Amino acid sequence: MPLRIPTELPAWQTLQRLAADIQGPTLRELGQQQGRFASFSFQAGPLLLDLAKQRLTPQVLDALLALAEQADLPGGIQRLLRGDFVNPTEGRAALHTALRARSEDRPSAVSTEIETAQAQMQALAADLHAGRWRGHTGKAITDVVHIGIGGSNLGPEFVLEALQYQNTGRFRIHFLASVDGHLTERLLASLDPERTLFILVSKSFSTMETRVNAETARSWLLERSGDRAALARHFLAVTARPKAAQEFGIAAENVLPMWDWVGGRYSLWSAVGLPLLLAVGPDNFSRLLAGARAMDQHLAEAPLAQNLPVLLALIGIWNSNFLGAHSHAVLCYDHRLRRLTDYLQQLETESNGKTVRLDGTVSEIPTTPVLWGGEEPNGQHSFHQMLHQGTVHLSLDFVLCRAADHQLPKHHHWLQASALSQSEALLRGRSLRELDDPEDPYAIHRLVPGNRPSTTIVLDRLTPESLGWLIALYEHKVYCQSLIWQINPFDQWGVELGKVLATQIHAELSGGGEARHDASTAGLIRHLRDQHSKAKHAGGTDERDPNLSGT
Ligand code: F6P
Repeated sequence: MPLRIPTELPAWQTLQRLAADIQGPTLRELGQQQGRFASFSFQAGPLLLDLAKQRLTPQVLDALLALAEQADLPGGIQRLLRGDFVNPTEGRAALHTALRARSEDRPSAVSTEIETAQAQMQALAADLHAGRWRGHTGKAITDVVHIGIGGSNLGPEFVLEALQYQNTGRFRIHFLASVDGHLTERLLASLDPERTLFILVSKSFSTMETRVNAETARSWLLERSGDRAALARHFLAVTARPKAAQEFGIAAENVLPMWDWVGGRYSLWSAVGLPLLLAVGPDNFSRLLAGARAMDQHLAEAPLAQNLPVLLALIGIWNSNFLGAHSHAVLCYDHRLRRLTDYLQQLETESNGKTVRLDGTVSEIPTTPVLWGGEEPNGQHSFHQMLHQGTVHLSLDFVLCRAADHQLPKHHHWLQASALSQSEALLRGRSLRELDDPEDPYAIHRLVPGNRPSTTIVLDRLTPESLGWLIALYEHKVYCQSLIWQINPFDQWGVELGKVLATQIHAELSGGGEARHDASTAGLIRHLRDQHSKAKHAGGTDERDPNLSGT
């Protein structure tokens, strides 16, 4: 299929002309137009997508939709949902949507595998819940430790935080992602080896952080149980490399599948989501899948002009490629959604943070912006100063819920007021005329330029379904943007070099060999190694400050 270079598409040229039209109305002026909310806000299922605070006019929206047509978004969407090889650099399909599809709608090639895995997951969860699965001394499991990182961690951890209201409370679920021993040591010290189940989640089963934590957990258990057979009662794995899991010591029947055709950052719908199933139960897990499935259907069927992921993708392109916003903040006005930004950071930047197009040519235009943000309204008392008066040109997503699930309406209204006031202030700013004392010699310091674009996403209420809709909205936004930029969102070759160097440097820090490094890295290795051996020779312990007590 010939590549459609985005900048050569006629709509791209139109958008460039529209963006350069500095005589046109400012965002602040646009914001005053009557009927704007009705024209630029869109609803699907439990989601409202308000683009009325974007620098959009009907002409811009038309040109963006023309761009979507010319880039063949409809064809690209079909290819994804049909199970075509949309990940050519790794020679695979990307079938995360099949994981949540109805069985009759799944590509037949993966249908049986998915159903078998789902049945295995459900049976395991039921055994654990009913106390049929017990620890090696016959005690019921109380703590589940999910060991995994990146896509094997961020989705389940985010969703579990978001669905705390649905948590049955049957298990304490812990997540161990980083290799930092402070975390591992403290967590293990809090656990009972007779009642703890470890789930090792790694598609490749070779990720350093996961492997090191898994080895430490295995030693911890073996030291306390003195019995290798105990591993079978305390370790599960979710992986696309079952042999490696078995070599690690995990019983074959305790290995759940992952597949090459599901990317890590798209995998929470698979057995990677096992801790979710354990925490919120099978009904809520199915509801999460159903929400995402409804969004898949919306993506497939809604016209481009009403299609939420397409619109969100186009707005991102407009801001970053035409209006120069290379930083994008996602601000979450719901404590339960506080991990959304971390999740999206991987989803968006690991998918589209690339420069080389599918045909090997280099993209001359920016692709995904820096993505950051977090839980609000905390940022209002921290970095919002920069949002309003700083020099960084950025765009924002505000995410909030219409209804809360607590009995403190005053809190909820203040939270919503915080969200809406921030997006309004960013849009309209504050001019000299609007100041109480415009003659004040320092008045200029109180001016707010405004004209900063944002999108508001309102979930009707945070439920498993609406969360499924929201996550799939962003998944598909990322895919639609990749179709316009003509890059492969499903590989991540950029992370490989760091992994190779980490192995080499780890060996050097442990005293083995010397490789060639730049001056800074070589100097730092020497410094860390020399200081470590000095501390050892002085008879001290370099691992823990002896003046600190406890863990
Ligand atoms: O290093 C990046 C990455 O490969 C991510 O793409 C992935 O989600 C994460 O590491 C974890 O990988 P794995 O599931 O193979 O341990």
